[in-house]
Amino acid sequence: MSLLFSPTKLGPLTLQNRLVMSPLTRNRATGNVPNELMVEYYAQRASSVGLIITEGTSPSPNGLGYPRIPGIFSAAQVAGWKRVTAAVHAKRAKIFAQLMHTGRIGHPNNLPAGASVVAPSAVAAAGEIYTDAEGMKPHPTPKAMTEADIKTAIEEYVQAAKNAIAAGFDGVELHGANGYLIEQFIRPNSNRRTDAYGGSIENRARFALEAAKAAIAAIGKDKVGIRLSPYGAFNDMPAYPEMAADYVYLARQLNALGLLYVHLVDHSSMGAPKVPQSIKDAFRKEFKGALILSGSYDAARAESDLEAGKADLIAVGRPILANPDLVARWKAGASLNAPDASTFYTPGPKGYTDYPELTKQPLPA
Ligand SMILES: Cc1cc2nc3c(=O)[nH]c(=O)nc-3n(C[C@H](O)[C@H](O)[C@H](O)COP(=O)(O)O)c2cc1C
Repeated sequence: MSLLFSPTKLGPLTLQNRLVMSPLTRNRATGNVPNELMVEYYAQRASSVGLIITEGTSPSPNGLGYPRIPGIFSAAQVAGWKRVTAAVHAKRAKIFAQLMHTGRIGHPNNLPAGASVVAPSAVAAAGEIYTDAEGMKPHPTPKAMTEADIKTAIEEYVQAAKNAIAAGFDGVELHGANGYLIEQFIRPNSNRRTDAYGGSIENRARFALEAAKAAIAAIGKDKVGIRLSPYGAFNDMPAYPEMAADYVYLARQLNALGLLYVHLVDHSSMGAPKVPQSIKDAFRKEFKGALILSGSYDAARAESDLEAGKADLIAVGRPILANPDLVARWKAGASLNAPDASTFYTPGPKGYTDYPELTKQPLPA
């Protein structure tokens, strides 16, 4: 009897299995509005997994750092997402919107008029970012957020959470991983503030915890999860000595808030630093809600980690990106399509909705 393939509960939700589609930015949302191509893409994958977490979706014009990523702050965006959630629910998966404010990982070329690249401190990330207009450009120095800007950003998360519920989502995942705004507050290299949002971990965690608390107050604690990347170095987030202690503090505080789940990132298979098992175990111990683990899982490792009680759900990214019928393939022991990295972020259906399926499965009655 497979745990991976059997139904389970996530808070009040019944999931058709324990497999989660990881959030995957695909840059098909021309004009930052979800479209019919995206409806097709998510619907293709909705019979495979219990829960879909959308691509990073911005709560604010300021958070649209990459080209063609969707938002969830305008009426047109909410209307577009409604079509996605309806198509996904018709195929029996549940769906959470990942709320991603890119912060300093952005470029004025990618932002709508009037928006700006903002961050906890005026510290540019090393490296470059892609823009449609001019190709690769160095990361700009962001504008340091004032306390009023911080309040506005938290209100944007709240409105985005409410919009997500209006759009038919089952909940939201705060993107607190991979070097975006929330992690920019957590980490000392990008947060040099001397006010209540910088310095000690109590202060650096404040933005994440206030955003989570406010989202919970707006839509309910069983509708809010968070993704974190302890030891992650993506987007110029170097290691520092207090890393483990800082994340244990976060685990405890998130537990006190009663969040639905914590979703941990592990990109070591993509060349990122190793994520020690001890930090995953610490989250399991300190956080009493559901724990989602991700990073280079196949069916066997997913099953074994579920059986060992290391996680409640397992998320996969590249395998489901390239195999809309992943569960059918895993159950049949069939071979998998390889993901084509050259079309991860390009516009149009190629490498997006054209990965072949083994069989066209009729929906159960
Ligand atoms: C094309 C692509 C886009 C991604 N976009 C996001 C994103 O929007 N938000 C996020 O939290 N992680 C993002 N990730 C990371 C994935 O969610 C996942 O953690 C990673 O692919 C490792 O899992 P895997 O080995 O199953 O692919 C992305 C990864 C890929 C390959």
